[in-house]
Amino acid sequence: MGKKVLAIYYTQSGQMKEIIDSFTAPMVAAGIDVDTVAVKPLTEYAFPWTGPRFFSVMPDCVLGVPQMLQPYQLKETRYDLVILGYQPWFLSPSIPSNSILQDPTFRQVIKNTPIITISAARNMWLSAYERVHKILTDAGAQHAGNIALVDRHPNFISFVTIFYWMLTGKKERYLNKFPKPGVDEQDIKGTKVYGKIISEHLLAGNVLNVQKELMAKDAVVINYPLMVIEGKAKYIFAAWAKFIAKRNNKAPWITAFKYYLFAALFLGAPILITLDAIFIKPFSEKRIRQKKLQYSLLK
Ligand SMILES: Cc1cc2nc3c(=O)[nH]c(=O)nc-3n(C[C@H](O)[C@H](O)[C@H](O)COP(=O)(O)O)c2cc1C
Repeated sequence: MGKKVLAIYYTQSGQMKEIIDSFTAPMVAAGIDVDTVAVKPLTEYAFPWTGPRFFSVMPDCVLGVPQMLQPYQLKETRYDLVILGYQPWFLSPSIPSNSILQDPTFRQVIKNTPIITISAARNMWLSAYERVHKILTDAGAQHAGNIALVDRHPNFISFVTIFYWMLTGKKERYLNKFPKPGVDEQDIKGTKVYGKIISEHLLAGNVLNVQKELMAKDAVVINYPLMVIEGKAKYIFAAWAKFIAKRNNKAPWITAFKYYLFAALFLGAPILITLDAIFIKPFSEKRIRQKKLQYSLLK
């Protein structure tokens, strides 16, 4: 019998749709039956965002509060492989992605089934990935592979360009000077390479061993300074989220978080990285290697 794959995802701008289409094209070409399902929240987040709305989703995102989803249909009750396309919001799985992860239909279909995750972030995806991996494993899925796509431009540049994109809806060059925001077109097209490797493994019956080969094609590249920033920021975001969630009037605290975020990125992060380079990194080689293996799904 032919192999069946479910590719399920959420996208706001359409970027993840482009990725899933390119990524699954080699599977379709190999005769695999791919059921592609785009899931939407019952109340969709308007795109483009306004500044206040963008920051207002932080507490629910970080605290993992799911949302009702629009009903969706799956062709099958069992698949040979599930692909989940998701994006981080505030270092956490986006609220719609987290809602998919908590959804009973999804949890039923991934039980005892290999799953491959593909994320498209600005550049900070590690904490969201950790959470996604734990939820999948707890639900009984076999997390066989992970691909982490990012905007490869420097942190400060992509910080500016993502806001331009999110607040205007235009995936274009800001002021005609900055690079295009988001995952590069070539990287989106390049996901075909991963799709082909996965097809071959699936047809050969060894998809659970695919990650090493995906890694050989740079499916996951870990940037150490960003790993240091995220390692600290995830705890600070959690403290902010818990604090804001308890306030009756959240708006002023959301604004305070926004200014904290700008200060943390432009002032705090360079200091943190410098201190880490002097006092921590030289003495933590083994721990860093282990962490990187964990984020690469090789451990
Ligand atoms: C509210 C919000 C928060 C985001 N937070 C992060 C983040 O913490 N790390 C990151 O790398 N990208 C972040 N992004 C970028 C997204 O991960 C994603 O790349 C972008 O929204 C495009 O996804 P789409 O396919 O849903 O349009 C954020 C985007 C939004 C809308």
